Formats: sequence, structure tokens, C-alpha cells
Amino acid sequence: MCGIVGYIGYREAYPILIKGLHRLEYRGYDSAGVAILNNKIHVYKCKGKVAELENHVGNKDVTSTIGMAHTRWATHGEPNDINAHPHYSQSRKLAIIHNGIIENYLTLKEELIKRGHKFKSNTDTEVLIHLIEDIQTNVNINLIEATRIALNEVIGAYAIVILSSDDPDMLIAARKGSPLIIGVGKDEFFLASDATPIVEYTKNVVYLDDEELAIIKRNEELKIKTIKNKEKTPYIHKLKLSLNSLEKSGYDHFMLKEIFEQPRSIRDSFRGRLNAKTGDVRLGGITEYEQKLINAKRIIIIACGTSWHAAMVGEYIIENLARIPVEVEYASEFRYRNPVIYEDDVVIAISQSGETADTLAAIELAKSRGATILGICNVIGSSIARMTHAGSYTHAGPEIGVASTKAFTAQVTILILLALRLAKIKGTISTSKFYQIINELELIPDKVEETLKVDEKVKAIAGKFKDARNFLYLGRGYYFPVALEGALKLKEISYIHAEGYPAAEMKHGPIALIDHEMPVVFIAPNKGIYEKVISNIQEVKARKGIIIAIVTKGDTIVKQLADYTIEIPETEEMLIPLLATIPLQLLSYHIAVMRGCNVDQPRNLAKSVTVE
Ligand code: G6P
Repeated sequence: MCGIVGYIGYREAYPILIKGLHRLEYRGYDSAGVAILNNKIHVYKCKGKVAELENHVGNKDVTSTIGMAHTRWATHGEPNDINAHPHYSQSRKLAIIHNGIIENYLTLKEELIKRGHKFKSNTDTEVLIHLIEDIQTNVNINLIEATRIALNEVIGAYAIVILSSDDPDMLIAARKGSPLIIGVGKDEFFLASDATPIVEYTKNVVYLDDEELAIIKRNEELKIKTIKNKEKTPYIHKLKLSLNSLEKSGYDHFMLKEIFEQPRSIRDSFRGRLNAKTGDVRLGGITEYEQKLINAKRIIIIACGTSWHAAMVGEYIIENLARIPVEVEYASEFRYRNPVIYEDDVVIAISQSGETADTLAAIELAKSRGATILGICNVIGSSIARMTHAGSYTHAGPEIGVASTKAFTAQVTILILLALRLAKIKGTISTSKFYQIINELELIPDKVEETLKVDEKVKAIAGKFKDARNFLYLGRGYYFPVALEGALKLKEISYIHAEGYPAAEMKHGPIALIDHEMPVVFIAPNKGIYEKVISNIQEVKARKGIIIAIVTKGDTIVKQLADYTIEIPETEEMLIPLLATIPLQLLSYHIAVMRGCNVDQPRNLAKSVTVE
């Protein structure tokens, strides 16, 4: 979602800001803007992509060593030039960029209108900067104090940066519920909503915490205080991100690169956590909480989107191996439905970005009810990673394509390790089964590599169905969440309507949709209730549906029924999601490319959904 970049130092700000916006493009946005300070604040902004903003700025003089820039994902007010950020204050001496939502903006706006303020946009953001200026002038205090007081009046979430023409050597930043990172260079500072725009300049970063305000002055030490006016000492973290991981490295799209990275990302997820020879499986980050998990009456997994699908795979595996009841909840539902949460529940939050607003709020709720919260996140230092009692990073590396791919398989890998660990401690798995699974898990990266060889075949199948209007994905057991994920991938990036369903449940509704034009993707490896799935395939075939089946290498039975088959290597049943997902990712990818869709930045979607 919205992206923030800021700079103050000795270099030209504009190129840094624009490059930073490009780095943040993956988050999803619909307008972009920049403000630089050169005697007065110059704001340039427009609807569309960062490239359009660059055209809009053209040859205008943007010389300055201080500035800020923004990509906006519309919430309040349609995506247009006026609603794009930055926004000026009434006097135009201040400007602001903002991620998040000010919930009480209407009340504040009405009050400000009565006091003579005139607003240009429909945004909540513009209200905030007017409020700050109103406090500054009426109470006659400095900008830092005015900002602090204003932030005590707003309800909602924010990451903001403020520029003032009266203070040409200062940027003010603050956060609550929306991430903001400060890069600390030599005689310069960078600001961004995630580390990607900062990493090429410095590895030293400070993560602002909720309700913290940073005063960033040229040639001075960084100062942080809370909005309740308590001084804080900035804590500098070292970024581990590499610049290479933010580039396409020869692939046409980030999504394709990330699909092909999965042998590596899965291996990195279990590296140091799995030793097939000694039979050692452990997740170092949560060792302290293992007993809690073992004694938990229930594990609740909260997540959104693709992470929710990984959670479902986790539910099936943990229940099967460790015999602990697991509930999987959409974070957005959980947070508002007054759920029953006991102190001996363990809540696991899964999130690639670690910033999803609903997941954050669900964690807060569970925490307030005394539950233990663990996190499975990909982004190091993210809000969820910092908010949970303990957790495990997935180590998939930065995921730039909006549609999640390698993060999903990494999350599933962590959940498999967790299930194995708990089952081993609890004694709910036989030694032979345990070794069988971990030996196979070690081989999974190679088998993913082998699976990726279906790419050309999948591309040919994609060519046949690129104009389809609907798709059905069916699977049972561990493959039901895989079907959901396959359908989500397709709709996200190709805009073809797709539904995932438990294969047997199909006859209670979706079967009505099946005719000779309906492609039905079956996840049908020869494990689990294979025969039952074959019956479901027969049911579709009897209604002339077109069958595309993911099958185990060497399968002969499904091959006779299906119109198209895609083979994956043989493996343990519960590890199959790690393989079966791959051709489905490729299928969506190729269909989307053939339809001319923007694969890495699909319309309306955001990589990290920081508003509810
Ligand atoms: C957005 C992204 C999805 C992602 C979901 C949850 O919708 O587009 O790819 O699965 O958010 O994100 P998280 O970062 O919490 O896993």
C-alpha cells in the first residue's frame, strides 16, 4: 500500500526520492507525488505511476537536499491528482505525506472549516496537516509540539512525514500502526515505509515504534520522543537486506523470479532448523514457548490472503501430526467477532510483510486477552515480528511481486517444522514416520527444482485458457488449501474469476457451473484419498468440464480422464503442497502475461495492506 520516502542530507534529494518510489512500486498504488524544499515547498503530484510523475516534473527545477515523496493507494477520495500526496497546509508552509487512515477526520475537518480552513482534496491526510498548522498558529508553539499535540487528537493509523518551509533543515516523522523506518547515514537521513529504498545508502536503520515522533535535523543527532512527550533513545538495527534481492536479475517479472527462487527460499527456511541425520528439528525463536504450545488446548492461527492459505495447510499438518486442535481465522473477522480466547491458547500470526493491519489488530486483541502470540513473518523487524512474544522468520528473502509465491511455500515449510517438532516432543509421531518426513523435506528443494521444469508445458496450457472467464480449483485434504491458493493466484493477477473448493463439496453448488467451457484444475496426486478425488474428476467429466490435473509423476489413472496433466515428483503426502503449488503459480503467471496484465502490480491490489 502507500509508500513513503524522505531525505535530508547533502545530496540532491529528488533522484533519491524518485528511485525510492520506484523501489516501493511493488506495494501497489494509484498516484504519486513529491515535495522538495527550495525557499518554499514545491509539490508535484499526479494520478498514475511514478514514471508519469517523472514526466510531470519534467525539466522543472527540483534542486534541493531535503524532500519527501509518496505513492498513494486510495482510501479516502478517488485516485486523482488532487487527492495524491503530498498535501499542503492552509498557508502552504507545511506539507505532509501519510500512510494509514485518520478515522476521526470528518469531525476534525468540520471544526477546521468553521475556523476558516479551506480544503482542496477529499483526503483525511489534508485534514491532519491543517490541524497541525492550526494548533501551531493558534497556540503559538513550534511545529514539533504542534505535531505532537495534533497526533494526540487523531484516532486511527498513521506514518507521516512533514516538511516545513520555515524549518529548511528538518523533517518530522511519526508512526502509529503503519511502519516507518529511518536510515541513518553519515550526515544524512533517509525515511521510508520499508527498508527497500534505504538499503543502497545505509544498513543502519531505526524502526519507529507506535506513537513515536522523530525529529530529523540536518547535521544533528536523530531525536525521538513519544507523542506523550517522553524522550527515547534511538536504537540502530543493522539491515540484512541485499540490493540484489530487490532486482529482477534477468527475469521478466519479479513474480517469475520469485517462483523460480523457491528451491532456495524453501531451503533457507529450514536451514539450521532441520538435520535429517540427527533427527533434529527446531525453531530456535520459539524454543522458549514450546511447552506452552504442547500444553495449549488450542492453537489459533490468524492471517490474511495467501498467508491464510498457508495457515490452513498448517492446520491440517499440526492436527494430524501433533494432535493439537488448530483453528484458522481470517484476522479481519477475528478482530471484530468477540472471539473466545483463553490464556492457555497460543495464537500464531502468519504474515509475509508483518504489517497487515487486520493481523496486527487481531494480535492486539489476543494479547489483551492474555494469549501467547507467536509470529511467522518474512520481513525482519516488521511490526508483527516485533509485536509478538516470539516467532520464526521464514527467510524467503524480499518478495516484490504483489502476488505471494515464495513466501507461501516458506510459511508452509515453517509450519511443517513446527508440526514435526511438536509431534516429536509429544510423542504423537512414530520414529520411522518422523524420519521419513524429514528425509523427504530435505529433498524438497531439489524436487521443487524438478517441478519447475513443467514451465513450458504449463505455458502451453495457459495459452489454451487465457481467454477463459471462470476457473474452478478442486482439492481435498492438504490439497484443498492448495486449490484455494491456486484460485487466488489466478484471480489476483489475471482478473479471471476463479474459485477454490474442496473437491467433494463441489456437488453442493459449484457443479452447477460446469459445462464444456469450464476449466477445472484438480490437485490429484496419488496420495491420501486419491480414489475419492478420481470420483470427483469423473463427476466433472460427466458434465463435460475441461480437466487440468496436477498428478504424481508416472500417474496413469488420472491421465486417462484429464484433458491435460502436469506432473510433480513423488513425495510424502503432507509435503505435496510445496510441490503442487508451483505449477499453479506458473499457470496464473503465464495466463496473466498472455492477457497483457501487470503481473507484478495487479490493479487495485497492494502488497502490504496497512489499512483495514
Ligand atoms: C495482500 C497481498 C497478499 C497477501 C495478503 C496478506 O492482500 O496482496 O499477497 O497474502 O495481503 O499479507 P501478509 O503480508 O500479511 O502475508
